[in-house]
Amino acid sequence: MPNPILLGVNVDHVATVRQARGVRYPDPVHAALQAEMAGADGITMHLREDRRHIQDDDVERFAACTQTKLNFEMAATEEMLAIALRIKPLDVCVVPEKREELTTEGGLNVANNLNALTELCVEFNNNDIRTSLFIDPDKTQIDATAKAGAPFIELHTGAYAEAKTVSEQQHELQKIQQASTYAASLGLIVNAGHGLTRFNVAPIAAIPEVHELNIGHSLIADALFMGLQPAIKQLRQLMLEARQMPALQ
Ligand code: PXP
Repeated sequence: MPNPILLGVNVDHVATVRQARGVRYPDPVHAALQAEMAGADGITMHLREDRRHIQDDDVERFAACTQTKLNFEMAATEEMLAIALRIKPLDVCVVPEKREELTTEGGLNVANNLNALTELCVEFNNNDIRTSLFIDPDKTQIDATAKAGAPFIELHTGAYAEAKTVSEQQHELQKIQQASTYAASLGLIVNAGHGLTRFNVAPIAAIPEVHELNIGHSLIADALFMGLQPAIKQLRQLMLEARQMPALQ
């Protein structure tokens, strides 16, 4: 029987629509609860330093009523560490953050920030919060993540998703496959995400070591035309088929 594959739904994009008007709707917490009902295995919220989409109150409200798990995405700052320790999500995913970027553009340079990230992992490990470091599929960064003591990596699939040609995409896929095998051989649990859609998810979901995919933008875009729950169910079905798992519902 293949390993199960989990779907984490990122609801930041719902908050982006709300913030565009500065009103109370659409509510990312409402989206998160709907996502759970559609079979999402967890919810990701990225509280950015500039609060451009998710707000502190969204994270607090969801942490208080989640039925699955919160994956709190954050930059490695004192402010975010304090929030994470207060709300105690099951998972944190540490990402690099730049004010001018449209979305998380690249992976963390763990090798160059080993001491600070090791301290962060120790803090989270001591508080039963599972740390994932968001990195490019690169051996040096995987080795550094293992050294830092994070139990999880999340592999950045952006280069794969944005590849312009089939051969470029194959090349990026191979990097993710090899990185997954290598990371798993070191005992790391492998998540992946960024830029995944119902059109490109299957080859990533088929990688046997991949434990969870975190998907946001394409799901919320599909939700505009098919509704959030059907969009999630369809994506999840594609992931299970790629993993050759029977549909769960
Ligand atoms: N994983 C991480 C660490 C991210 O920063 C993002 C983007 O917020 C995602 C997954 C989801 O990417 P997308 O919105 O392109 O599906």
